[in-house]
Amino acid sequence: MTYLNTASVGPSPKEVLEKMVATWHLIERSPVAESYARGTERLDEIRQKIGGLLNCDKEDLVFTGCTSDAMNRLSFALSLQPGDHILSTDQEHDGGHNCWKFHARSHGVEVEDIPIGFDERDPRAIISRFAQAMRPKTRAISFSHVLYTNGLRMPAAGLCELARRRGVVSIVDGAQAVGNIAVDISRIGCDAYAAPGHKWLLGPKGTGFMYVSRTAAPGLELLTRLTDTKPQNDSTGLINHMGFQGLGAAIDYVNRIGIPALERHNLRLHAYAYDRIQSLPVEVLSPRDGSVATPLLAFKVADKFEIPKLIPALLAEENLVIKGLPKVGGLRLSCHLFNSEPDVDRAVAILKRRLT
Ligand SMILES: Cc1ncc(COP(=O)(O)O)c(C=O)c1O
Repeated sequence: MTYLNTASVGPSPKEVLEKMVATWHLIERSPVAESYARGTERLDEIRQKIGGLLNCDKEDLVFTGCTSDAMNRLSFALSLQPGDHILSTDQEHDGGHNCWKFHARSHGVEVEDIPIGFDERDPRAIISRFAQAMRPKTRAISFSHVLYTNGLRMPAAGLCELARRRGVVSIVDGAQAVGNIAVDISRIGCDAYAAPGHKWLLGPKGTGFMYVSRTAAPGLELLTRLTDTKPQNDSTGLINHMGFQGLGAAIDYVNRIGIPALERHNLRLHAYAYDRIQSLPVEVLSPRDGSVATPLLAFKVADKFEIPKLIPALLAEENLVIKGLPKVGGLRLSCHLFNSEPDVDRAVAILKRRLT
């Protein structure tokens, strides 16, 4: 299989599966002691690993099922009132945006989506558009660190600084960032950051985590302090130990290579793929390189190609996995460590045959 869709779901290395299975055996030998008590202590070690990866305190991290789960919890913790205003973008994934639409439908909250064009390359222009759209009733800004569509790297630190100056909560959807690019929470300065284990970290499916600053808006910081000063203890509920121990193994795996080396590898393949797809009848939507580029590569195809039919056909008939972006009439490739130039060549050859 040619797998060029880590941005949707990353395949786990064998050692991740082995850690999950070993954890399951451990738990079933002594369910109570290994689920609570010793199990809770072991989860603390995983939060420590995530804290190391994101440069934040483990006491500000909570496990979640996925990014969307975190975004939902964060949106509810804000206790939004009718007339409150949320600023987001028109390039958000449903997983990070459905929660705001829900509050718009059910609580009279106003959600405004700042347009981000596919040709957008100037971080200052994005920040100034957010600044102009702020109102006295703006409660939060919510945006993706890396856009799931064309992979544009958003000016997260600048947007969070703007929010801080205006007394507005900043919530970052890091689904396409963690494990893909270096993420340093202390430099971003956000109030909250949500991420999955199952994309660029190559972790178990259905694992995620969120960071919440201790100085975040009242209510929000309680998400990490449900019972006392610890985010996770024996009374905050039994969670998926297999998944989170597997996530720890995935972080060890990624750390052995190192995020900078991993990013370099993925960006090199991104540029290689960018140059190869110039031979296709497509319109490229992603930056090739520079400070706003990431390894996601999106391109628009002619309207006559039905993307919801094309993607399953590529899997069934060509054993090729890429992402369809029906909302933008495009396709997306994303390369990770296990990919190399021949994977890109094969994908481009198949697409050339199918699209011309
Ligand atoms: C930007 C963004 N946010 C949220 C999600 C949803 O992720 P999860 O499965 O972790 O909820 C995705 C998935 O592709 C995404 O790209």
